[in-house]
Amino acid sequence: MNHQRKILVTGGAGFIGSHTITALVSAGFTPIIADDFRNADSSVPSRIEKIIGHLPEFIMIDVCDKEALKQVFEQHAFAGIIHFAAYKAVGESVEFPLKYYRNNLLGLINTLELAVQFKVPNFVFSSSCTVYGEPGELKEVTEDLPKGLAASPYGNTKIIGEEILKDVHHSNSGLNIISLRYFNPIGAHPSGLIGEFPIGKPNNLLPMVTGTAIGKYDQLTVFGNDYPTSDGTCVRDYIHVMDLATAHVKALEFLESGKSSFETINVGTGAGTTILKVIQVFEAISEVKLNWKFGPKRPGDVVEIFAKADKANHLLNWYPKYTLEDSVQHAWNWEKKLQND
Ligand code: WQD
Repeated sequence: MNHQRKILVTGGAGFIGSHTITALVSAGFTPIIADDFRNADSSVPSRIEKIIGHLPEFIMIDVCDKEALKQVFEQHAFAGIIHFAAYKAVGESVEFPLKYYRNNLLGLINTLELAVQFKVPNFVFSSSCTVYGEPGELKEVTEDLPKGLAASPYGNTKIIGEEILKDVHHSNSGLNIISLRYFNPIGAHPSGLIGEFPIGKPNNLLPMVTGTAIGKYDQLTVFGNDYPTSDGTCVRDYIHVMDLATAHVKALEFLESGKSSFETINVGTGAGTTILKVIQVFEAISEVKLNWKFGPKRPGDVVEIFAKADKANHLLNWYPKYTLEDSVQHAWNWEKKLQND
């Protein structure tokens, strides 16, 4: 057993990755970030340093460059890998599908090949509730729900990624695997020292809400007002990014316990929230009147989806700690902090 428990975190400088680094350190792991910063801010390692008390080790690398990645495996004996490195913009993936297939699948395959070659025991994959597509009657989805049709090439890379993992597991590769299906991660570190750095105009709701409130964008458009939900707007399961970070730590610890060698697990709060409710919570917390209007539906949007999180609760003993209000408060703190940076 590697006493230092070094964990390779590909994409560790991104939004979810950076928060997971802090959670790994708190749990006694030694994370090593592999990131080429193409979609992360160069200040992230020094920001993490302020939280954990030392500069995390980071390697500037594109995980699609297998030779370079191999050198990382030659230099470190990893006790586990968390694979975040991937593109994630749904709209962009429709425009540039090959960019998404190349990057997301090649990065995964390279990392898996080296994990097997170097006999790394445990692997956690960054998947998404997008694999469910548009759920049927039941909006609270369980992991055994058959995967839906991907609404985008991005979503398809997650579906194919999960299929690859299943096949690798069946091949007796010796790799223990957990695929975590994230719902909608929001918020920021409670310290206000790290958060999301959207590059360009964000696609996601929360950065648009806080960005509009601070004046970066003129107005928020709420996509659609006549969906069959309580107030006509889409329902999502918004989860605090630190709760999601903790789920990765619990997943690694679970794999280390040897209780299972392959699992797919939802990571959501189990509660569905409409867009209008998010706006209402934001206005109450920030005391800012948000400039928003209704606009046309966004193509490809799922109407309503939230997690059945029992598996994460029981198998990983994982429970979300933060409320929607906490998440919105932390996202707002972060937006204000960034403005003064
Ligand atoms: C949430 C709701 C929008 C922006 C996310 C990820 C995606 C994937 C699945 C992640 C929707 C509405 C948004 C705006 C709006 N997996 N909205 N105005 O679509 O659930 O997708 O989860 O790994 O990558 O993005 O999240 O934040 O884009 O949208 O009205 O300006 O907010 O229509 O109903 P979504 P989102």
